[in-house]
Formats: sequence, structure tokens, C-alpha cells
Amino acid sequence: MAEETHNRPLRGRFHAWFLRSTQELMNRLHDERKRSFFASLPSSVVELGPGTGANFAYYPRGTQVIAIEPNERMWPDLRARAQEFGIELELRGLRGENIDLASGSAEIVVCTLVLCSVDEPKRVVDEALRILRPGGRFVFIEHVAAPVGSVLRAVQNGMARPWSWLFEGCCPNRETVSVLNSAGFSSIEVERFEVRSLFMHVSPHAAGMAIK
Ligand SMILES: C[S@@+](CC[C@H](N)C(=O)[O-])C[C@H]1O[C@@H](n2cnc3c(N)ncnc32)[C@H](O)[C@@H]1O
Repeated sequence: MAEETHNRPLRGRFHAWFLRSTQELMNRLHDERKRSFFASLPSSVVELGPGTGANFAYYPRGTQVIAIEPNERMWPDLRARAQEFGIELELRGLRGENIDLASGSAEIVVCTLVLCSVDEPKRVVDEALRILRPGGRFVFIEHVAAPVGSVLRAVQNGMARPWSWLFEGCCPNRETVSVLNSAGFSSIEVERFEVRSLFMHVSPHAAGMAIK
């Protein structure tokens, strides 16, 4: 069985620095979607893999965030950003594949740029479904695989190993939308779009909301 937490001193520190340095840029790229997704939040949010807390800027002050973050190197930034934005942080050093919350207990599960990085995306989505109450929302923004046969997909395939090593498991060519579509949500809306950045292989993106 995989360890519940990750603690890779060098890569973990680099990854946390990278996220900390790029989170405002990523928020600008996804600003409209995040504003819309996070416009009406309940007082308690479960967030999978919050990293250094990019999304905290969008949550009302006083929101309780149950953070499922296995990477210990993210924790200091996550705590600092929670304090900056007045978030009540409940940090759990767990993987999304195995969440210690009761079935049907969550109103909303937030997952941004995480399903690319988890070891078992299907298990993580199954866990999100399990902990959501009926009618609860799974909100996602993910970078996903380019179409099979495209030049971009060939680039993603070529970059997959080194990129995944450096960014602790991140797969540029992951078929995340198929996983979400077959997970068993009662409804799902997915928008696909391109993101222009230095890292052209980390596109296209898919964002949306799935209802249990
Ligand atoms: C690219 S970062 C995204 C961070 C943040 N969600 C954001 O939008 O900036 C991926 C995050 O997923 C976390 N992660 C990796 N494996 C995970 C797992 N099995 N379960 C939950 N989170 C995981 C990483 O530690 C990291 O914080």
C-alpha cells in the first residue's frame, strides 16, 4: 500500500516553490471560472490536493477547508496562505485515494490541477463521490490529454517521464475527462479550453462541475 504522505525533500521543496511562484498567474488564467465555481460556497469545503492554497483567495473569509494534502512540503505555505485569507484550515496528511471522511458528509469537493498528479485517478474520483452528499458538487479544473494522434499529444507523451519525475507524478497526457465521465455522477458539465503558457504540453484544460 502506498504511503499516506509524500516527503521528497528536494523535489517537494522545488514543487512547493514552483506552485507558490505561479499560483497568482494560474489564478489569473482561471479567474473567471474560479469566480463562478466558488461564488456560492457552503461554510465547509473539502479540497483535494490544495498545494500551496491557490484557491483560498476565492473563498469567503471564515470558510472551513478540509485539505487532503499528502505532500508535507506544501504544508507551511498552505498554513500561511490560510492565515492570510482567513481560512479555517483542517489539514489532513492523506491521499485522495483514501479519505477519512464519512460517506455523504461533504457538500462540495474542490479539485484543481490534482487528478493529473494522483497515483490512481479513478480511486480519487470514487472517494470524492463517496464523501459527497446526494446532490453535492464536485468542482474541477484540470489539464488533460490532447487528442490521440495530435502533435501536442506526441509532445505530452515524450515529456511524460521527465515531467512526472520533476513534478512528483504529474502526467501531461492523462485522460481525466474519461475518468470523470464514467465515474457515476448524476450529471456532469465539462468545458474544454486551451491555456497559453510557457508549458504548452500542459494544455488543453477541462473544467466543470459534476453533481452526485
Ligand atoms: C499541481 S498541484 C495543484 C495544487 C493546487 N490544487 C492548485 O490548483 O494550485 C497538485 C497537488 O496535488 C497533490 N497530490 C498529489 N498526489 C495526491 C493524492 N494522491 N491525493 C491528493 N493530493 C495529491 C500534490 O501534493 C499537489 O499539492
